[in-house]
Amino acid sequence: MPILEARSLSRTYRLGKVDVPVLRDLSLSVAEGEWLAILGASGSGKSTLLHLLGGLDRPDRNRSNPQAGVYFDGAPLAGKSRRDLDRHRARDFGFVFQFYHLLPELTALQNVTVASMVRLGLGYAGRSREVRKVAEELLDRFGLSGRLGHRPAELSGGERQRVAIARALVNEPRVLLADEPTGNLDRATGQGILDTISDLHRDKRQTIVMVTHDPYVADRADRALRLVDGVLADNREESAPMTPVLQG
Ligand SMILES: Nc1ncnc2c1ncn2[C@@H]1O[C@H](COP(=O)(O)OP(=O)(O)O)[C@@H](O)[C@H]1O
Ligand SMILES: [Mg+2]
Repeated sequence: MPILEARSLSRTYRLGKVDVPVLRDLSLSVAEGEWLAILGASGSGKSTLLHLLGGLDRPDRNRSNPQAGVYFDGAPLAGKSRRDLDRHRARDFGFVFQFYHLLPELTALQNVTVASMVRLGLGYAGRSREVRKVAEELLDRFGLSGRLGHRPAELSGGERQRVAIARALVNEPRVLLADEPTGNLDRATGQGILDTISDLHRDKRQTIVMVTHDPYVADRADRALRLVDGVLADNREESAPMTPVLQG
């Protein structure tokens, strides 16, 4: 059974009186332990898709197909209450974004442990030492043991993204969802981040869904799909060279 599945997913944004369809009847299956890349031009709907997969956004209602939607471990997200969805997201998903989304007032270590506070709620108080240890180990693994007390403004772009990845992993999520995690970094720093992700995938069999506009980034994954006109195609089906796109 796939760990994550999208069945006939559609998402339309409404701008004033105009409907803008972004995803149309898109289907996708992610196996446990795989690293899947989704390649697409800026504005093709990559972030929209990732947000739907991670339960940050809900798809259009599909009246003709009651099975349409996102499934995690075979169970539909659609039936979940807001509260259950929040809990599921905190427990099962780790998110990494292009612009890190770190909290500027907090140190690197605090930015990581705060994700555990969100997950554990009141249960955090009794486990704060243990969480701190896990967070320190992650930051150490990513070469940041000398940066625990630094605030985001005192870190380089690559260091910030490593903190963001540590934050995404502190709750040991079943799936890591990454939205252009190297999109804001120079090529060499981006390669370093991809190496970090690649090690994680190899050592922990971490399931990863990564969206990117960059074919070089997609090449690092086990499998790459291309998002075009709201649906997914096998990346190899299109042999024509990709036209350069703006990052986004
Ligand atoms: N909240 C929103 N409201 C209206 N339109 C949106 C919204 N979010 C994204 N869009 C539009 O949907 C399309 C896909 O956006 P997005 O998923 O962010 O693409 P990508 O991540 O591939 O660059 C774009 O045309 C964008 O302008
Ligand atoms: Mg995007």
